[in-house]
Amino acid sequence: MTYETLTIDLHEGWAEITLNRPSVLNAINLTMVQELGQVIDDLAGNEDVRGLIFVGAGTKAFVAGADISELVERKTQDALAAINAGLFQKIEDFPWPTIAAIRGYALGGGCELSLSMDIRLGGRSTQMGQPEVNLGIIPGAGGPHRLTRLVGPGMARELIYTGKIIDSEECLRIGLINHIHDDEEVLEAARTMMKTILKKSQMAVRVAKVALNAAVNTADRRSQMIECLGQGMLFDTEDQKNRMTRFLERRNAKK
Ligand code: COA
Repeated sequence: MTYETLTIDLHEGWAEITLNRPSVLNAINLTMVQELGQVIDDLAGNEDVRGLIFVGAGTKAFVAGADISELVERKTQDALAAINAGLFQKIEDFPWPTIAAIRGYALGGGCELSLSMDIRLGGRSTQMGQPEVNLGIIPGAGGPHRLTRLVGPGMARELIYTGKIIDSEECLRIGLINHIHDDEEVLEAARTMMKTILKKSQMAVRVAKVALNAAVNTADRRSQMIECLGQGMLFDTEDQKNRMTRFLERRNAKK
């Protein structure tokens, strides 16, 4: 099976998903959401797959966010349809461990995508953040609730209110990534970790994931709903249209 926005490699016991739109720093568009949703469903039903590793194509980014050229057109009902939020929930619910191998930028929806995974490994070039406030929106696909539970309410609020982008050392310090590796070694480190996990009792690992998800997810659905409602409101503001248009115009001006 070939995809427009992804490549899938099957290894001995796990699958690697490469987010593959390097010309726009692997920004998540609707095609990627649809393709990823399909792939996750297929892999969840594949008995040979007991783990997933996600990586971004190219050296500059894991994912630099949702695709702003599509976001600028989004309306209230799109937020309520929970397009990215639904995909990230599906990834969080994947029955086996998931690891993000992050080189370069993981911003906005890219940061939220990594938050839906069990473990994040970084490279020295890793830079993460939730810059949505610069665009007149919020991280509406799990940022507020997943970031809060991972790095704590104070740091989550600072990141989301200021939109600042932090480097790998800071990501490590606050627990956004578990380890820092040299960039060219991040993927190999993820594979080594996956192989370690695959040597354990697979039944125990699977049950552990259910227990770990249950331990942190108690308020999830309600906070997710609030995120979608808020985002829906922001998608209909002039401020959002102006800020996103400015980003896109700056990009065209560079050409
Ligand atoms: N959506 C759509 N396109 C994006 C994108 C996004 N989220 N992030 C980057 N791109 C595109 C750029 O427009 C550019 O395309 P072009 O070559 O056709 O002009 C290309 O990816 C390379 O990005 P560029 O901005 O030239 O790289 P840079 O090194 O100067 O800056 C970033 C990198 C990540 C700081 C900058 O691209 C950026 O701020 N991106 C948006 C991040 C963001 O706000 N994400 C949250 C969205 S929810």
